[in-house]
Amino acid sequence: MPGHRLKLKIMLNEKEILVDCLPDRRLIDILRIDLELKGTREGCSIGECGACLVLLNGTLVNACLVPAFMLVDAELVTIDAYDELKLFAPVRKIFGPDSHTAGEYADQRSNGRPVLQPGKHSVQHSIQYPGTFPCGFCSSGVKMALSALFLSNLKPGRQEVRETLRGILCRCASYETVEEQVMGSLLPTKKKSARRLRTQ
Ligand code: FES
Ligand code: FES
Repeated sequence: MPGHRLKLKIMLNEKEILVDCLPDRRLIDILRIDLELKGTREGCSIGECGACLVLLNGTLVNACLVPAFMLVDAELVTIDAYDELKLFAPVRKIFGPDSHTAGEYADQRSNGRPVLQPGKHSVQHSIQYPGTFPCGFCSSGVKMALSALFLSNLKPGRQEVRETLRGILCRCASYETVEEQVMGSLLPTKKKSARRLRTQ
């Protein structure tokens, strides 16, 4: 029936919320516009870039492709809970806490590229990610994808990490630095200190 609205009860980041929207409303719009949760980003809008990855009932999905009618009794996890949820702990160990993940990007674009808002975020950014995520637009997708990987395997091999990262479009091509950062974090502590000694 045209105009028929859905009233959905959703577990979002382990909290129950109610959403009232049209059945074909995209999940990315529910998150970013209706709920003002800006951590999940929108890049291509056609399911190819991975900027909008979220976990829906434990599975990684592109929020730009999920209509509201698929969210009946859904359990969602988004990057907005990065600092709080245990699920993100392995990735927090690699990249540190990330109070700037949510909300620093406006929807405005310049020549098709996202624009980083001026202010404290850019400073935090350079401190928290030396040599990694130069613009940071892909970082929420990268962190969601890696978190999903760690859910299935806490000690993934380089190939799995590489394939996971290649699923996210990074305009700044920081794949190698992120890959090294992830692989470095997976080394046993002894090897890590030996490697540090060798490089001194
Ligand atoms: S914005 Fe959804 S995959 Fe690119
Ligand atoms: S898109 Fe800029 S760091 Fe990935």
